[in-house]
Amino acid sequence: MKRHPNLLVGTETSDDAGVYKLNDDTALVQTLDFFTPIVNDPYHFGRIAAANALSDVYAMGGTPLTAMNIVCFPITDMPKAILKDILRGGLEKIYEAGAVLAGGHSVDDQELKYGLSVTGIVHPERILTNKDAKVGDKLILTKPLGTGIIATAIKGKLASQQALQTLIDVTSALNDRASQIMLKYETHACTDVTGFGLGGHLLEMARGSGVEISVHADKIPIIPEAKSYALMGLIPAGSYATKHFCEHRVEIDSGTETVLLDLIFDPQTSGGLVICIAPGHAEACLEELKGQGVESAAIVGEVLGPHRKGKLHVGGRSSP
Ligand code: CO
Ligand code: CO
Ligand code: CO
Repeated sequence: MKRHPNLLVGTETSDDAGVYKLNDDTALVQTLDFFTPIVNDPYHFGRIAAANALSDVYAMGGTPLTAMNIVCFPITDMPKAILKDILRGGLEKIYEAGAVLAGGHSVDDQELKYGLSVTGIVHPERILTNKDAKVGDKLILTKPLGTGIIATAIKGKLASQQALQTLIDVTSALNDRASQIMLKYETHACTDVTGFGLGGHLLEMARGSGVEISVHADKIPIIPEAKSYALMGLIPAGSYATKHFCEHRVEIDSGTETVLLDLIFDPQTSGGLVICIAPGHAEACLEELKGQGVESAAIVGEVLGPHRKGKLHVGGRSSP
């Protein structure tokens, strides 16, 4: 089937959102995300789910404009107040993003789920996909890893209050500032880190861009509790699946700690952006991110060279 000329980003490269060109100045960015609760508090779940859905617009370099609720709720078996709190949390994040709630849809479902369909805009020539990483680029990660492991600990009633609070803080934070800052520099590609973990999303970027990407395990920001829970074996099932799926395209230096691999492939909810940026701009961008409240941001790797199928190299030490 012939591709519509206005569809600038479609389904072919597993990118964060679809992009459709309206005219020479404006393209629509459209995305949809919803899932089951990762925390028990309905209000915080609403905030996290909304921040997660909005993130895909930011990952494309776009600005969110409108959002629609998508709700699956056990109407007869759960108090309505829970749904009200979820929607209140979600609405708060939509406002924080400068967007508006334009509607939504709910269905009766035994398994609670919530999320948003978000529409934003971007300049057609300033779209950041996951397929334009250039050899020599540095990779900046803007949030710490480990939220999947902490969510697993919460399910097993093993998470500390501090770990729960960190999970809420990290996952409910918008990627808005990180996105606005990266657009001021020579950024070539971007994606957000979600269900496939940092490793899986970097491999998608490597494949989409036809490059080999190197990540330095010891440079990756990590939520401290997540590392101890991972050492206790609290690894989400999704992490094994992704690791297995990626295995043949990942090369791991022998000195790399096994627990760091568990974190690299830990599925994230509402994770940070991976900003693929020209090497001469990386330090300045990082400094601005940290100065503007994105404290966990760090340079975690670089693009090594061309590779037809895309490859990920996980190393313990960084190259000089
Ligand atoms: Co995404
Ligand atoms: Co998404
Ligand atoms: Co993107």
